[in-house]
Amino acid sequence: MPQGPKGRLFTGHTKDFQADPLAYFTHLANEYGDVAKFRFGPFQNAYLISNPDLIKEVLVTKQKFFIKSKAMHSLEDILGKGLFTSEKEFHMSQRKLIQPAFKKSHINSYGQNMIDITTDYLSTWKDGEERMITQDMMSITLGIICKTMFSMDLKQGYELLGKSVETVIRMAVKRMRTIFQLPLWIPTKNNRQYKKVIQELDQVINSMIEKRRENPNDHDDMLKILMDAKDDENRLGMTNRQVRDELMTTFLAGHETTANALSWTLYLLSQHPEVEKKLFDEIDTVIGSRPPTPDDFKNLTYTQNIIWESLRVYPPSFIVEREVEEDVMIGGYQFKKGEMVMVSQYVMHRKPEYFDNPDSFIPERFENNFLKTIPSYAYFPFGGGPRVCIGNHFALMEAVLVLVCIAQRYRIKLAPDHHEVVPFPTITLRPRRGLRMVVEERKSD
Ligand code: HEM
Repeated sequence: MPQGPKGRLFTGHTKDFQADPLAYFTHLANEYGDVAKFRFGPFQNAYLISNPDLIKEVLVTKQKFFIKSKAMHSLEDILGKGLFTSEKEFHMSQRKLIQPAFKKSHINSYGQNMIDITTDYLSTWKDGEERMITQDMMSITLGIICKTMFSMDLKQGYELLGKSVETVIRMAVKRMRTIFQLPLWIPTKNNRQYKKVIQELDQVINSMIEKRRENPNDHDDMLKILMDAKDDENRLGMTNRQVRDELMTTFLAGHETTANALSWTLYLLSQHPEVEKKLFDEIDTVIGSRPPTPDDFKNLTYTQNIIWESLRVYPPSFIVEREVEEDVMIGGYQFKKGEMVMVSQYVMHRKPEYFDNPDSFIPERFENNFLKTIPSYAYFPFGGGPRVCIGNHFALMEAVLVLVCIAQRYRIKLAPDHHEVVPFPTITLRPRRGLRMVVEERKSD
């Protein structure tokens, strides 16, 4: 029987988890080892698994014994049966239909959108001004996803979708982490507001789908790929409802995470001038003063390692959660139907067995095929197995190209009177109270 701390009778360990999930999970892994037992509320048994081989069993080899957790399923109110929330055969067949949108050749063409949107956005920055960088990164990645998915420009995207998306994410997170969720049909103030923003988003997305059904060849974007997709057997495409769910899913899964990765990276660079210098040197050598192109990506190897290391230190997805669907043995322990299993990138990425000086930011550690020297599930910023992030290559390319557009022109420093920067774990890991940073043009170097 896995060991764990003694919890309170009614709340179990909910309060410890909610107060500081990162500290609590680190404590559980340090004190109780590979499998630690704890409890949400009076009855919900949960386990934190912190051994790479066992994590692989949960995510890959024995994944069919698991489904997504209840908290993740509560996102169905907004995501419907999109890739993130659907299960089993339906998930597999949808994944097959959607995969072409993330093919390498498409991602390269999205690369140009990434550069154009970022360059356009940066044209409003003024030398020496202080900016809310966390907000800027959200706007840039929102712009990129609007452009790649619907061929919308940044301004249009923000006006039509930006505000509702921010509200919906905030409300979904709040709902997810409430233990006793009231069903959405009960007309509480929060529920009414939540339903209203979902409806607003639906209207925009549905009208785009309908317009596109009328003029299918209007644009060459992700929406077109999704609408053209047909399954192999029956040659059937997706219904409007299904296209809506997948768009909403990609839209929400695909911009906040990358925005957080970029914000953390800019923060880490501001604290490590030696890394920042090597970044500038690489950009100056590979690109110089001409505009970046998607093709530069492959030559920006140090920049790629900066992103890998930033995803290690501050993984935007810091927990992956599952519910046991059928009793299963893992690591010599029996897990029962209905129990919860959690694995944490934050905990694993900071284990000294796999990472020297785990709390330090050292992009060089990723050189010389470092990942081949550690077990595969010691480092897994994008999850793994059949549910591995479908946008992983997209995200890496986006993070590298946005960072390069910024660093080609600007050096970014934390505002002198900044509050202490600490991670704030919600669905994703973001800097608490945001990042205020001063942007200085590099030409004054
Ligand atoms: C740095 C950025 C990102 C990180 C760290 C990240 C992380 C993750 C993780 C850990 C999962 C697996 C969750 C689980 O197994 O429960 C996931 C799934 C997913 N991600 Fe990402 N993601 C990022 C960017 C993106 C982007 C850019 C897109 C789309 C454009 C995207 C779309 C998705 C989708 C649709 C899923 C569900 C896949 C499935 O279940 O089949 N993500 N992501």
